[in-house]
Amino acid sequence: MKLDGKVAIVTGGARGNGLAIAKCLAEEGADIAIADICEDMRTLPYSLSTPETMAAAVESLQAMGRKAEGIKCDVRKDADVSAMVDQVLSNFGKVDILINNAGNTSMVAIAEMEEEVWDEVIDTHLKGMYLCCRYVLPHMIGQHSGKVVSISSVGGQRGFGMGGHYCAAKHGIIGLNKSIAMEVADHNINANVVCPGTVWTPMMKGIAESFGMDEEEGKENFFAGHMLKESELSPEDIGRAVLWLCTDAAANITGNIITVDQGWTAQAP
Ligand SMILES: NC(=O)c1ccc[n+]([C@@H]2O[C@H](COP(=O)([O-])OP(=O)(O)OC[C@H]3O[C@@H](n4cnc5c(N)ncnc54)[C@H](O)[C@@H]3O)[C@@H](O)[C@H]2O)c1
Repeated sequence: MKLDGKVAIVTGGARGNGLAIAKCLAEEGADIAIADICEDMRTLPYSLSTPETMAAAVESLQAMGRKAEGIKCDVRKDADVSAMVDQVLSNFGKVDILINNAGNTSMVAIAEMEEEVWDEVIDTHLKGMYLCCRYVLPHMIGQHSGKVVSISSVGGQRGFGMGGHYCAAKHGIIGLNKSIAMEVADHNINANVVCPGTVWTPMMKGIAESFGMDEEEGKENFFAGHMLKESELSPEDIGRAVLWLCTDAAANITGNIITVDQGWTAQAP
């Protein structure tokens, strides 16, 4: 197995893309710590994971024969991230892989966006990535090895109306990643980004429902006309790209992006 004996932290790993990423890493032998907020935020129009969601995710990883643990952690909070990384180091002994996946969104025009709406999205994606790297990188530097993969979006490469905060955060992840890659390259640490196109996860389902759309209407609105191929992107498509970046096959790729979008960003806007 490609990741035998490795330890991975997957933020926002209780469901959706994060859980699929965790399973792809676990399938190749990695032990997994999931760090997830497991409570709602005031301005989001849908629910985030719950302690029950996280327990089920951990059970599914353990059923694959891996060590797995769920840690309640809001990646926006310094004290939560610091305690989460300490707990992983104490219970797993090291961290080889950090996946910055925790994310959320709302859809509000900038002219109407309250500060708290901006903060909840920007802080989760950008401050969360900064804090997780802030606490994991010293350990990776000490062991002279590591892989960091951060989840941006096609929204990191183009704009979405009503998604200014999300697009700003996702563009920011790409810039932050380039700087991190430069800082840690001498320590044998790779830092890369995966940009998914639309994937039908609880986040997209929640956004569609908040506009009164059922699954068919939601997919029609958020998928149709974007992708070059007819088949849907799955969370596992994202998981496989992340997994590849964590293997030796990608040893000489850093500061870069893999876009998993069925050609969406290849088309003229
Ligand atoms: N689904 C898509 O179409 C799509 C497209 C591009 C990028 N993405 C990105 O993929 C990632 C995962 O999204 P998803 O679609 O699986 O959504 P999701 O809502 O299904 O899962 C996100 C997880 O992150 C957790 N989370 C949210 N805020 C957190 C915080 N502050 N601290 C810790 N955990 C937090 C949630 O509880 C949830 O378990 C996000 O970064 C998202 O922006 C998704």
